[in-house]
Amino acid sequence: MKYSQLTFDDPNYKNAPPHLRRDQIVSKLKESFDFENAHLRASSNEGQGVLSKCHGYEAPDQAKDLGIYPYFREIEAMNGAHVTIGGRDVITVSSNNYLGLTKDPRVIESAKNALEKFGTGCTGSRFVNGNLSIHKKLEDDISLFLKREDTIVMSTGYQANQGTIACLLGRKDIAFSDRENHASIYEGCAVAPGTTVRYRHNDMDHLEHCLKKYSGVEGKLIITDSVFSMSGDIANLPGIVKLARDYKANILVDEAHGMGVIGEAGRGATSYYNLEKEVDIYVGTFSKSMGSIGGFVSAHPKVTEYIRHKASAFIFTAALPPASVAGVNTALNIMIQEPERIQQLRDNTAYMKKGLFGMGFQINNNPIPIIPIKIGDEALTLYFNQLLFDQGVFAGVAVSPVVPAFHAMIRTSFTSAHTQEDLDHVLRTFKTIGTDLGIIPQ
Ligand SMILES: Cc1ncc(COP(=O)(O)O)c(C=O)c1O
Repeated sequence: MKYSQLTFDDPNYKNAPPHLRRDQIVSKLKESFDFENAHLRASSNEGQGVLSKCHGYEAPDQAKDLGIYPYFREIEAMNGAHVTIGGRDVITVSSNNYLGLTKDPRVIESAKNALEKFGTGCTGSRFVNGNLSIHKKLEDDISLFLKREDTIVMSTGYQANQGTIACLLGRKDIAFSDRENHASIYEGCAVAPGTTVRYRHNDMDHLEHCLKKYSGVEGKLIITDSVFSMSGDIANLPGIVKLARDYKANILVDEAHGMGVIGEAGRGATSYYNLEKEVDIYVGTFSKSMGSIGGFVSAHPKVTEYIRHKASAFIFTAALPPASVAGVNTALNIMIQEPERIQQLRDNTAYMKKGLFGMGFQINNNPIPIIPIKIGDEALTLYFNQLLFDQGVFAGVAVSPVVPAFHAMIRTSFTSAHTQEDLDHVLRTFKTIGTDLGIIPQ
């Protein structure tokens, strides 16, 4: 039996009060699946060959058997905030398409034109043979928009972080990285020859403690997401800037979820706090508000020139393809010319936060459209997520090791493309399931 049917159909569960029903279901799920360890579980065949861990990795199959596997759902069509999965129309609340630009006809038209003019790919790295005039045009437009001196467009946001950090952080340098930073920042720090110190999430006292400890070191780089992708928290940039000044450190900010979302005209958290000049390196992505793929890094021309010639993740990979470059450039222009999109995103965000908070869910109180619904227990989170999906709401989940064990959450994100009707359906669904499972009061 798939567990998503348990709550409503099985008489053992149907008549129990919500909190007992929830506990019964969770313990039933746990009989079949070791939730807290499943993602990390070592293979029983450890030490018997490189591939033995793969053959011993059963967590995904077990979750599928229970009917609560949340990953790799196959999307057959996309339309605004709706997607078709398994022939069913569902509202997505897990998309990064913040400004609803992925299917804008103007974006598609420019992507098509570039496709016809240049073809499907750049045939190589920008460094050697794949550097197109439209790459440079996009870089200039980003620099102009962000009021920064120079920009490099890379193939993904992941590579922009990884490549930049890995080439800047020399053997004697130290990176101070927020513990909730994106994986690409971790990766950049891990590859770099320098040392990395991870400070507690958004904790300025701890950051200062770490900076003090290494005050004798000349090369210091503080690295932070501007908006954290799981919690939706905004980085304490004023605190970071003050400490950077006091301890003579440079700052790299990853604005993946900030650009197009907060700040004046969507320039990100650095603009929101009016600290654009204080941040040395601005990293961004095109996979969120720009509705495409690709990433960029903006900084002083001497810094970008260095990265251009040194970043392995930029040099040894194929250039961002023409259709994406042109599509992103049009998306950027639309964002600038149609500020009402950002306003709509902000209105939708405020509406959802008010609605979910009013029901009794624990949520973050800020203007960011990422709204994590903290559940805690991993089994319950996956189960909740499946019930949402069954009722037409496609959300994401964050479980260990993405978040610490027992901090599992449903991760929702909202866009300007959600209609009032969509938002109300999502709220109603959260209310029904939340009360049914005794997570919020009736
Ligand atoms: C904070 C943050 N930085 C960087 C990235 C990587 O961006 P991309 O998807 O363009 O590789 C992501 C994507 O999930 C992100 O959330």
